[in-house]
Amino acid sequence: MHASLFLVSALSVFVSAAPTAPKVSSDVSKNIGIVSQYFNLLASKVHQSKAFGAAPICDLSKVTLPEEAAALPPPSPGLYLKHVAIGRGTQNYTCVGLNSTAPPAATGAVATLFNASCVTATFPDVLKMMTRASLQFDHSDSESLMRLAPTNLAVSGKHIFTNSNTPFFNLDVSSQWKIGEIPAGKNASIPAPAGAQVGQKGEAAVPWLKLTAKPGATGGLQEVYRVETVGGSQPATCEGMPDNFEVEYSTQYWFYAS
Ligand SMILES: *[C@@H]1O[C@H](CO)[C@@H](O)[C@H](O)[C@H]1NC(C)=O
Ligand SMILES: *[C@@H]1O[C@H](CO)[C@@H](O)[C@H](O)[C@H]1NC(C)=O
Ligand SMILES: *[C@@H]1O[C@H](CO)[C@@H](O)[C@H](O)[C@H]1NC(C)=O
Ligand SMILES: *[C@@H]1O[C@H](CO)[C@@H](O)[C@H](O)[C@H]1NC(C)=O
Repeated sequence: MHASLFLVSALSVFVSAAPTAPKVSSDVSKNIGIVSQYFNLLASKVHQSKAFGAAPICDLSKVTLPEEAAALPPPSPGLYLKHVAIGRGTQNYTCVGLNSTAPPAATGAVATLFNASCVTATFPDVLKMMTRASLQFDHSDSESLMRLAPTNLAVSGKHIFTNSNTPFFNLDVSSQWKIGEIPAGKNASIPAPAGAQVGQKGEAAVPWLKLTAKPGATGGLQEVYRVETVGGSQPATCEGMPDNFEVEYSTQYWFYAS
């Protein structure tokens, strides 16, 4: 097959050529530039492809975390990168029992995880743009389609909190990939780097995190990084906020296993 045709077919794994009309969030008119940057980047990949002769790579063994994650503790020795997912969902907050000058308290997060392992290994710059562009699309639509709009990534898992300080990741939901489950706790946190993409309503990007396994993890899963966050932060105070509310976010979760 001609190299450029090959690349186009490789990209089609990640990109829906004829998206089933993914619904753009009503808040995104000001962020529409992100979506067009994403499609321009894809177009440039196809254009560059004349010089690109190799097959797409799904091997994560040479992939490293984004540079700015160096401010977090590194993955523990002996672990390997098992999976990378884009998480798309909501960070939940409460103002119950808080006065109007207090900051809302975090009550957890709910997100669908989408398999981004191959795109991470092949086109890290596309991965970053996918994370940003996906926040501009309606998440409930993506969930019902089982694809991350506007990409073609398939569901690989689900992220919930099993209690207020236990983020939990179930990566056994796909019939194709059984990757494991991991209840985790926070090991380290750094603010999202300057230039991180804000949310649908201008919310700051939530911090980058390193999480480590609590007892009960399967599939050898040991450590999880949350990086390249987009949106998700709460407003500064509870002034004018409902008792419980959600802030849309997207991010990358990197899963390390033994
Ligand atoms: C899905 O995830 C698994 C495990 O990380 C990986 O082997 C597979 O290549 C991934 N597929 C895609 C399309 O990213
Ligand atoms: C967070 O939001 C999700 C999605 O609406 C909801 O199902 C869940 O109950 C909320 N969780 C908490 C802890 O408030
Ligand atoms: C409101 O909450 C903040 C933060 O918890 C506290 O410092 C402040 O004293 C409270 N104000 C009132 C009027 O209760
Ligand atoms: C973070 O993980 C490292 C390595 O496992 C450990 O030495 C350190 O105590 C942990 N820190 C916290 C705050 O959990």
